[in-house]
Amino acid sequence: MGLVSLVYVSFATHDMSDEELQELLKIAREKNSALAVTGMLLYRDRYFIQALEGEEAVVDTLYEKIKQDPRHMSALIVMKTNIKDRSFEQWSMGFNKVDTHEVKGFTDFLDTPFEHAYFEEHPTRAVALLEQFRDRTFF
Ligand SMILES: Cc1cc2nc3c(=O)[nH]c(=O)nc-3n(C[C@H](O)[C@H](O)[C@H](O)COP(=O)(O)O)c2cc1C
Repeated sequence: MGLVSLVYVSFATHDMSDEELQELLKIAREKNSALAVTGMLLYRDRYFIQALEGEEAVVDTLYEKIKQDPRHMSALIVMKTNIKDRSFEQWSMGFNKVDTHEVKGFTDFLDTPFEHAYFEEHPTRAVALLEQFRDRTFF
């Protein structure tokens, strides 16, 4: 058994309010703490990017559950790798909701098309975006 990092992208099935996102995170953080899962979730314009880190079997099972969640659809794994160290160890699930007007300084972010095909082709961009917001969590 080893540690893995799994990164996927998906679409929210409706515009998520701050209250809905907070509720989702509250549950996710409780469950992830119990499972020793860490990670980061990014939300922009109905688009989710999430990293899940932990023991492979735990992460795989959790991803299968998350994938079935009716709050989003079209979940697609863009990267899954073995890792030695966690990138988000301080977060049972870090979170940032990014509005375009808030990220003027982040040209990388604005230049990145949020599309499954793009992230499939450039999986490291998804990881870079998550890491860019690691230390600026929203709530
Ligand atoms: C985009 C998204 C990300 C989620 N991330 C997590 C997560 O990291 N951990 C988690 O336990 N649940 C996460 N959930 C919620 C799960 O799908 C599920 O609702 C929750 O774990 C409660 O499961 P239960 O009904 O079996 O108790 C996420 C849901 C969505 C839509």
